[in-house]
Amino acid sequence: MTSEQIRQSFLDFFESKKHSIVPSAPLMPDAPNLLFTNAGMNQFVPYFLGEREAPYPRATDTQKCIRAGGKHNDLEDVGLDTYHHTFFEMLGNWSFGDYFKQEAIEWAWELITEVWKFPKERLYASVYKPGDGEPANFDQEAYDFWKAIFEKAGLDPDIHIVYGNKQDNFWMMGDTGPCGPCSELHVDLTPEGNTKGSLVNADSPYCIEIWNLVFIQFNATPDGDFVPLKSKHVDTGMGFERVAGIIATSKNFTDFSTPPSNYNSDLFTSFFDQLTSLSGHEYQRTLPEDLDNISEIEMKDVIFRVLADHARCLSCSIADGILPGNEGRNYVLRRILRRAVMYGRRLGLENGFFAQLVPTAVKQLGQVFPELEKQQGIIQKIIQSEEDSFSRTLDRGIQLFENTLTKDGNISGEEAFRLFDTFGFPIDLTQLLAKQKGIYVDTEAFNVEMEKQRDRARASQKKTDILVADSNGDTEATTFLGFDTLADEAELIDIVKAEDSSYLVFNHTPFYAEMGGQVGDTGAIEFDGAHFDVIDTIKDDHGRFLHKVSGDLASISSGIEANLIVDHDRRRSIERHHSATHVLHWALRKVLGTHVRQAGSYVDSERLRFDFAHFEAIKPEELAEIEKLCNEHLLDNSIVRWFETPFDQKPNDVIAFFGEKYGDVVRVVDIGGFSKELCGGTHVRATGEIGLIKISSESAIAAGTRRIEAIVGNSLYSHINEIEQLIATASQSLSTAPADLLKKIDSLLTRNSELEKRLKKFQQKASGNLANDLVKTATESDGLKIVRAEVQASDPNALRQLGANVLGKLGEGIVVLGAKVKGKASIVAFCSKGAIGAGHKAGDIVRELTIRLDGKGGGKPDFAMGGGTNVTKLEEVINTFQR
Ligand code: SER
Repeated sequence: MTSEQIRQSFLDFFESKKHSIVPSAPLMPDAPNLLFTNAGMNQFVPYFLGEREAPYPRATDTQKCIRAGGKHNDLEDVGLDTYHHTFFEMLGNWSFGDYFKQEAIEWAWELITEVWKFPKERLYASVYKPGDGEPANFDQEAYDFWKAIFEKAGLDPDIHIVYGNKQDNFWMMGDTGPCGPCSELHVDLTPEGNTKGSLVNADSPYCIEIWNLVFIQFNATPDGDFVPLKSKHVDTGMGFERVAGIIATSKNFTDFSTPPSNYNSDLFTSFFDQLTSLSGHEYQRTLPEDLDNISEIEMKDVIFRVLADHARCLSCSIADGILPGNEGRNYVLRRILRRAVMYGRRLGLENGFFAQLVPTAVKQLGQVFPELEKQQGIIQKIIQSEEDSFSRTLDRGIQLFENTLTKDGNISGEEAFRLFDTFGFPIDLTQLLAKQKGIYVDTEAFNVEMEKQRDRARASQKKTDILVADSNGDTEATTFLGFDTLADEAELIDIVKAEDSSYLVFNHTPFYAEMGGQVGDTGAIEFDGAHFDVIDTIKDDHGRFLHKVSGDLASISSGIEANLIVDHDRRRSIERHHSATHVLHWALRKVLGTHVRQAGSYVDSERLRFDFAHFEAIKPEELAEIEKLCNEHLLDNSIVRWFETPFDQKPNDVIAFFGEKYGDVVRVVDIGGFSKELCGGTHVRATGEIGLIKISSESAIAAGTRRIEAIVGNSLYSHINEIEQLIATASQSLSTAPADLLKKIDSLLTRNSELEKRLKKFQQKASGNLANDLVKTATESDGLKIVRAEVQASDPNALRQLGANVLGKLGEGIVVLGAKVKGKASIVAFCSKGAIGAGHKAGDIVRELTIRLDGKGGGKPDFAMGGGTNVTKLEEVINTFQR
């Protein structure tokens, strides 16, 4: 069976058992606490928890998964063994409160032994048996079903059923969420196939888990409880690559003489063929015998496996909009890519090789996951640009790595941190290089440095040090009314004193507190007899809105009422910029691609700033198109709506910023149906309020992250007025109509350059004449001609040219010239060959003279220059010069 046939036959089998075939969810998870989609069941969590009703009672699919960070992380094993991957497909079947253990177990057995013909005597099932203090009871039911199956097959259940505790036989997606006991199917792949279960869960490549049948019964809560669910569900996950590898290696179960490997399946051969043509090396199916001592041939095979795995991982995640970057899941991808490039170098592969693997990944997986085909161009460009930027630093980094080795030949934590911080060398790459050299990296000390950096970052983010001790301890979150009103009557419930200001807290407020990139509101607070200007509004850790005020607070105390009035014009202007940010985000994704994701934003009343993931500078024509699309949508005056909804009932096409922690209830901002984002900020009511948008700049702020700045509404109006004013003033001073300004500037520039040419000629002539005149003033002493004069010169250089000119005309002798240049005295001196022969030196002359001018100077025997501040003495110093 080919891998394609295996995948299809799994889906067909469960379709025949009345399962709906559903598409894979994207690798970008819905749950904010997951780095990547890491199991088939992720997309079904709300059905398991009973938060939403499943649209079908049974489902089956192949799910794209990445396990390279978080609770399930296989990155370090990839390549070194034959069955771990960063990216893999998980085939699964699900029951949502429908069938349970019996059908799950019997159908699994039927598919594996009757459809695919796995030899029954090589199969082992594991059953949950809790250890001390572990949840739930021994899974008697599962045991009984397996017992009946093995007995029917003439196999001893005491041998073919093994027990596992929470670690092996209780599935959890993360620390919380739906979970339950599971039964796994393991296959004995030793040549004889008679290990009697001794290799199950023993980390042996000869006995591999291929399928996990999970019986979802509980919800694990953050406080460590396992709360029984209303309905019971089935969640199974089969390692597709493992099954394909076993069937390929054993040639449809006819030959168990060679060690099993996922990489023997046709899923990987096209990558290996391409790597062979790129590198000239062949994949030889070896495995490291001793991980501390990997031979050259073994290492080449490790690299082949790593590169194929990583190419699939990067291609699929970028297709789903997760790009390499500096934070969280994006950083995991950058590390994987850099790891691939480092390994590739060991195989002699050059910059760009990794991007060349993308078409292979697309060919291999594009039929099943069409987003790969759709995004191929973007994926390749992104990988190429990452490779380029990493290659640039890699050579320098490797050099630095060599220089970094301390006296005892190891890498200290501080040095490892510097490699990371300055050269973008992830610690595992440093470890990789170190491993190749057989040296040690102090990772513990590295982690200490990382923690210090995090502390620094936290400290710099914490803008205000609120002294909570000074508050009355009432820390209930403030109700925000400012979506609907900009004025409110409220009760003062606390006064919080910080180092240099005070903050007023009310039971409710129309003031928006800085959050999500939108600045805090300003305005006024009026008590009976006291008025305060609000300079800023921020939120504390308890969700209380703190209104920053200055002035004497003696006349107010908690419990009194006040009028809270937001600066209306400023707030409206902020809203315009905020809504424009959403429209811009939409246009960027439309023109550049859906890989564009917000990386940060800042919105105030004057401008907006939007940072986002994109791999290259935006071309001027793209920028023009983006701006045009935005303005079209402002002109059509699209309605802006916002509403609250439970997180998992938000519309499917809403953009959420992953990495943000969203609460159970989220706010959706919908602009004209074309832009939907989760956002807690305040917005205009219709896009017409924004007026017009103008992009003022586009730049890079980090590798793979761009920044756009733009202005709208009032700010843009003022900006246009300023430009108009500028043009009017310029036209006035040039005595021309604004429409003729360019023509006028052009003609002035032409005339200017003509005049400059003429002036130069004139100056040359004048300088020649002046030089002639000066030569005529030469005096003679001991047969040596001397010219000394104070002249006019625009700068020291002009003085120097004049001096050289005079000496040229004089022939032999000394020339000393002085000039007042920009409030200072400048002096040049020249000595001809003959003068030098007679013992005179220009350097000495200038030194001597400039001392008298309270300055300094010097130079060579033939020419020297200098200056001083005592301008009034210049005439005397020049005139009295003697030799
Ligand atoms: N959730 C289980 C797993 O990922 C079965 O799908 O292994």
